[in-house]
Amino acid sequence: MTNEHAVHARGLVKRFGEKVALAGVDFEVKTGTVTAILGPNGAGKTTAVRILATLSEATEGEATVAGFDVRTQGHEVRRRIGLAAQDATVDPLLTGRENLIMLGELHQMSRAEASARAEELLGEFSLLDAADRRVSTYSGGMRRRLDLGATMVAHPSVLFLDEPTTGLDPRARNELWGVLDTLVERGTTVLLTTQYLDEAERLADDIIVIDHGRIIARGDARTLKRELGGDHVQIVLVEVDRLPDAARLLEQVTGAKVAIDAGIRSVVAAAPNGVDTLVEVARSLASAGIAVEDLSIRQPTLDEVFIALTDSPAYDDDSVEAAQSGARP
Ligand SMILES: Nc1ncnc2c1ncn2[C@@H]1O[C@H](COP(=O)(O)OP(=O)(O)O)[C@@H](O)[C@H]1O
Ligand SMILES: [Mg+2]
Repeated sequence: MTNEHAVHARGLVKRFGEKVALAGVDFEVKTGTVTAILGPNGAGKTTAVRILATLSEATEGEATVAGFDVRTQGHEVRRRIGLAAQDATVDPLLTGRENLIMLGELHQMSRAEASARAEELLGEFSLLDAADRRVSTYSGGMRRRLDLGATMVAHPSVLFLDEPTTGLDPRARNELWGVLDTLVERGTTVLLTTQYLDEAERLADDIIVIDHGRIIARGDARTLKRELGGDHVQIVLVEVDRLPDAARLLEQVTGAKVAIDAGIRSVVAAAPNGVDTLVEVARSLASAGIAVEDLSIRQPTLDEVFIALTDSPAYDDDSVEAAQSGARP
């Protein structure tokens, strides 16, 4: 059987008592591609991954992974997948090498095979120098690379990565992205979850945006931006103190949610009438006496798309206050 879809999920519902963690989601992951499930904390990302990895049963719905049913053929599924959970699974008291060898043996390799596989993975994940140190001495980035190596011991065809870079500094994050590129080049199918739009954009062919257990959008980054974004108008102010005024004004003119970035003294919103909106904003700013450093119209970032999609308030009095107090000495 050839599988165009490494993952196929239909009508997945998961309830914990009264709590609905997944409210009926349908999606596919094409074989050999990277798909990101993008959503804020509590959206249902881990719940979905745990069901697909056979660690949890869906309340309703069905799913196949590598062509096997997660409910009735869990053993077949588990032989073909790797899972890097949100919490690290390697043993901190063992060395990186010992961890990998132990996992190889758990996968019924001989000691020699497991050693050879460990050596190979340590090289691939740039851990040879640290191979014989206890994991407790590793940096966050090294631990995550070892986690990834650990999931690859038995050559899985489908890899689940639950928030692989949460908590990493930008450099470690970049290194991990590079490692993932290599895996994907070799044909591993990856389903990863993330709260970071730039991460989804950087890594994934397809993005599934979820919030409150529902899919609210899907597509590649470019399509998502085009469909949901349209033109955005951005005002960069001379004085940070005028941010709340500018935000209110922009909201009035556009009728859209306003995103504030105090660090660059900027407010952004969808521009429903393109350049006409820009002109109207310029006029309103002038009559309100708000000094502007830059005023422009452009395509939205994925962050702005996400703000438009989710019901989390991008702009409220608290965020304006936080922006002001953060910007003041
Ligand atoms: N074992 C559980 N018992 C009760 N509620 C849970 C359990 N696991 C997850 N939830 C709830 O389900 C929702 C989705 O959780 P989760 O899948 O962990 O979200 P995410 O990984 O996107 O942050 C959250 O509201 C969470 O509190
Ligand atoms: Mg989670």
